[in-house]
Amino acid sequence: MTTTDRYGVMGYPVSHSRSPVIHRLFALQTNQDIQYELLQVSAEKLETAVRQFQRTGGKGLNITVPHKAEVARLCNHLSERASTAGAANTLSFVDSEIHGDNTDGIGLLRDLAVNLGVHLEAADILILGAGGATRGIVGPLLEMQPASLLIANRTVGKAELIADQLKRLGPVSTCTFDDIPVDTDYDLIINATSAGFKGETPPYPENAVSPGTFCYDLSYGLKPTPFSVWAREHGAARSVMGWGMLVEQAAESFSIWRKVRPDTAPVLKQMKITA
Ligand code: ATR
Repeated sequence: MTTTDRYGVMGYPVSHSRSPVIHRLFALQTNQDIQYELLQVSAEKLETAVRQFQRTGGKGLNITVPHKAEVARLCNHLSERASTAGAANTLSFVDSEIHGDNTDGIGLLRDLAVNLGVHLEAADILILGAGGATRGIVGPLLEMQPASLLIANRTVGKAELIADQLKRLGPVSTCTFDDIPVDTDYDLIINATSAGFKGETPPYPENAVSPGTFCYDLSYGLKPTPFSVWAREHGAARSVMGWGMLVEQAAESFSIWRKVRPDTAPVLKQMKITA
């Protein structure tokens, strides 16, 4: 009988996912005997696939695009951060129950605050986009007590929905791309749209970048993303892609499952990524 514990990442599509490599590196580093699979599952098969993974002895799953919100409904318990985000990216199978957590926000915070030294307290923050990714990061960012957090979105109603749910946590406001105030020196601009991913270029706000602005793209790639190129061209102090967030959110999932925290720095390095 094998003692290897099974984990995996479920999404659609999922073949591009770096999670298996990251979790294998964490397991090697911390001497954990785990197996981590790539599981491509369409929306209509999500529930069956999750329950089957659980039934056949799986210990935990990462859930990625587009299933994070839907999977939260299958959970018997949701952590506070998953409940605030309305989405789960980490499932743990405990006895016969499904526990859901969301490590995206803490992953971003760790990358920004610990790896990159960005000060979030009293910062003016602009987030572009109001989809699932934004939903996962607004709560944790507000808890860092920024001076302001503005969510700009093509469809402003979606931004308003997120802001209404989370305004109890801090100063959050919304607008369209066209209405982004240009008289604010944003300390941090985060691209949370899926535009670059789809090869589209949204009307990024021309005058929002000032020489002190740190630009962070939640998307990442082997080549610079359209947003990171745009940020550099517009004179951002620094422009970084979301590799660090990817590794940090994975480390948080790994810690939840294995009760041991891996060191993320060598993993980032081993993936030949410059953060
Ligand atoms: P995710 O889960 O990755 O956040 P999503 O929920 O589909 O994905 O959200 C995608 C976000 O990117 C949305 O804010 C979307 O804007 P709308 O809410 O108006 O749809 C934004 N987005 C995608 N393509 C875009 C484009 N070409 N221009 C501007 N915004 C875009």
